[in-house]
This record gives sequence, structure tokens and C-alpha cells, in this order.
Amino acid sequence: MTNSIKKVTVLGTGVLGSQIAFQSAFKGFTVTAYDISDKVLETAKDRFEKLAETYANEMPDARDGKAQEALSRLTLTSDLKDAVADADLVIEAIPEILDLKRDTYQKLGELAPAKTIFATNSSTLLPSDLKDSTGRSDKFLALHFANRVWQFNTAEIMGTTDTDPAVFAEVVEFAKAIGMVPIELHKEKAGYVLNSLLVPFLNAAAELAAGGYADPSAVDDTWRIATGAPVGPFQIYDIIGLTTPYNIMANGDAEAQKLAAWLKENYIDKGKLGLATGEGFYKYN
Ligand SMILES: NC(=O)c1ccc[n+]([C@@H]2O[C@H](COP(=O)([O-])OP(=O)(O)OC[C@H]3O[C@@H](n4cnc5c(N)ncnc54)[C@H](O)[C@@H]3O)[C@@H](O)[C@H]2O)c1
Repeated sequence: MTNSIKKVTVLGTGVLGSQIAFQSAFKGFTVTAYDISDKVLETAKDRFEKLAETYANEMPDARDGKAQEALSRLTLTSDLKDAVADADLVIEAIPEILDLKRDTYQKLGELAPAKTIFATNSSTLLPSDLKDSTGRSDKFLALHFANRVWQFNTAEIMGTTDTDPAVFAEVVEFAKAIGMVPIELHKEKAGYVLNSLLVPFLNAAAELAAGGYADPSAVDDTWRIATGAPVGPFQIYDIIGLTTPYNIMANGDAEAQKLAAWLKENYIDKGKLGLATGEGFYKYN
């Protein structure tokens, strides 16, 4: 299928928005990155330059100036009207706050041309929570990336019952075109595929360690050796960083909250936040 998506606008230039924008530009798309002020865009500029360095260091096909070339396909703006004036696809990666997202979709629905498809990268909201604000629920769906999009390149695609199947198919093609492996969900599910698997898995590991049944390293050894998986659950905690799982547990049921308290007391309060800080369940150089 030929894809009509050529011009992409990303709303939000934070952790994920900057990666999505850069990856799309790296794969040849013309990309506009929007954020709320010129001050924030200064930070975004640094993020994009760091991403270009990371790509050049980590990806063989980003050498010979290819990562730098991607920067030339990226435009930064704090004018929402300009940002979406000719967009085929808008990918929204703004903070996970329901009212903020709803307000943004309302403005977007008024400013963007009729052709524009809207996609949310929200991790915890369902597209149904947002679709009424878009004014075009047939052209709205979730397109969910994982942190470090160039390396962990899944793109979970999930529509509502209103989403036009042709729009869904176009977004699947777009995901492939930017180097993602599209994961199609046939109906809405909180947590998509990845977090539906990962959250209970990480909780089960924490239950074993917090309950005194086995040490984290023994849990990881078991998982790696007995299943052939490259990493165990506590190594995954360290890669993600302990704060995100902590926040999910702290908002869960009584059992989950006990695990949250255990993580906080034994790790988070001691500054052991994971790989990024040099120590979590394991120590890193
Ligand atoms: N961080 C992750 O690992 C991850 C992974 C998958 C999905 N997500 C999702 O991506 C979204 C963004 O998360 P993040 O971690 O990149 O957040 P972040 O806090 O790093 O970045 C959010 C950005 O949005 C900007 N912003 C705030 N209000 C805005 C507005 N009204 N319009 C446009 N931009 C605005 C902020 O200035 C900031 O640059 C969330 O929905 C989150 O659930 C995050």
C-alpha cells in the first residue's frame, strides 16, 4: 500500500516526543516538532543533537553524517497553528494528564486540516478517553512507542471502535516506514500488549524478593537459565528505572502498594534508581 503520510508533526519534545520526531526524520520524513515555548525548544535542540550523537554511536546505518542529516529535516516551533497547518499525521507525546490532552486535541481539531490523522503516544490512557475531543474520531488512534525507539522498536497501534480501518492501515504502514515493528491491537486494552505482560511479570518478581522467597539475582538466574531469555525481571527494572514501576504499584491495589513500599524503602530512598544512576538491583560502571 502506498502511504499518504509524508509530513509529520510531533507535539511535545520531551523524552519520547524527541525520539519519535528524530526517528521519523532519520527515516526521511519531514518533521515539525512542537512544544509550548521557545525556552523549552532550546532544551529540545540539545536533545535532538544528543540523539544524533547517540544514533551515530549506536547504529551502523547512522554513520557518515546520516544522523546529522536527520537534523536538517526537523523544524522546531512553538506555534501550534503553523505546526499542524499541513500535517498528514500528528503524533501527540505531551504529559500524561487527561485534561491537558483533551484541551490539546480540542485546539488541534480546530487548527489542523481535515486530512490530518491524530495519534496519541499515551501509555496509560485509552484512545476512547480522548476521542471525543478530537472532533474526528475516525482519524484518531493510539500509536505507542517504547523508550529508546531506535533500539526497542515496537509501535503498538490501537484504535477505538470509531477509527476508520483505512486510517489504521495507513498508520501501520507509517510505523514500518520509520523502522518500527507494528504491533496491531484489534481492540482497546489498557497497557497495550507490552505492559499487559510486563507489569504482572515485574510484580511477580517483586513478590518473590519482597516476600523473602528468593534474592533478586536468584530470580533473574532462574528466568534467564530456564527460559533462555537474555535478561531477568530485576535487570529489566534497572533498565526501565525503578521510579516508573514504583508509581504504577503505588497506584495499585493493597498488594501492589506493599511492593511499592518495599521498593521505596530498600532501593529508591537509597538512591538506587537503576542503570541511569549507576545502581539499582545491580551495580553498574
Ligand atoms: N517516557 C516513556 O518511557 C514513555 C514511553 C511510552 C509512552 N510515553 C508517553 O509519552 C507521553 C509523553 O511522555 P514523556 O515521557 O515524553 O514526557 P516528558 O515530560 O518527557 O515530555 C513532555 C513534553 O510535552 C511538553 N508539553 C507540555 N504541555 C504541552 C502542550 N500542551 N502541548 C505540547 N507539548 C506540551 C513538555 O514541555 C515536554 O517537553 C506520555 O503520554 C507518556 O505516557 C512515555
